[in-house]
Amino acid sequence: VRKIRTVHLAAAKKQGEKFAMLTSYDYLTAQIFDSAGIEILLVGDSAGSNVLGHESTLSITVDQMIPLVGAVAAGAQRALVVADLPFGSYQQSPEQAVATAVRMMKEGGAHAVKMEVNDYFVDHVRAVAQAGIPVMAHIGFTPQSEHALGGYRVQGRGETGAKVVETARLMEEAGAFCILMEMLRSDVAAEVERIVEIPTIGIGAGGATTGQVLVWQDMFGLRQGKMARFVKQYANLFDTIQDGARAYRADVRSGAYPAAEHRFDD
Ligand code: KIV
Ligand code: NA
Repeated sequence: VRKIRTVHLAAAKKQGEKFAMLTSYDYLTAQIFDSAGIEILLVGDSAGSNVLGHESTLSITVDQMIPLVGAVAAGAQRALVVADLPFGSYQQSPEQAVATAVRMMKEGGAHAVKMEVNDYFVDHVRAVAQAGIPVMAHIGFTPQSEHALGGYRVQGRGETGAKVVETARLMEEAGAFCILMEMLRSDVAAEVERIVEIPTIGIGAGGATTGQVLVWQDMFGLRQGKMARFVKQYANLFDTIQDGARAYRADVRSGAYPAAEHRFDD
């Protein structure tokens, strides 16, 4: 199988093709999504909420993420594996960003890293890219800055739209291979896609981006509760698994499980 490289994603945009990215935090989902043709697997810091049960994405550490990155890299035959740099692991300096990105590549086996950025991070992105590590620049709503941004809210409304577009341009100039845009007004995201040559990926950023990304537990209904507007639900795994667990418990209590075919009777 031909591995997906950043050059293939750049070529997709030039040819007017779209591609899909999903989060993954373990070996088996990485295999499933990879074999389904998903081009990029993101080991997001959303693992903090979706795997570790944290209240936000702010608390997950590099040490906690590296084993997850390793599991996804092991499960991916073809997909590009991107590791999020967690909060606090790159903000201090370009040097800190390089050191953390190197760990994700070297200890985790990632093929690229993602950083949540604004104009302040131009030098951080440049340093990591120049170290030979592909950087995805995450703009628009950046969950690690939730408290500075005043909560989960759509970005790019009013005057701020032009600022987001400018940040995207600066990131391309700094050497990012891709721009990821989260919860951004569709027209602003479309303008970013138009003005940068590198491919863009959206989540709640409309349909003009080269790629789309979703968090897999959201799209497959593993997580319960109210979903963001941009989530399209493709399955209801919470109910499927809960129904199975209930049926299993009932079988155990009634003695229906284990049946003859599940036993070693001779
Ligand atoms: O961590 C994550 O899941 C992400 C996506 C929402 C883009 O950053
Ligand atoms: Na993230």
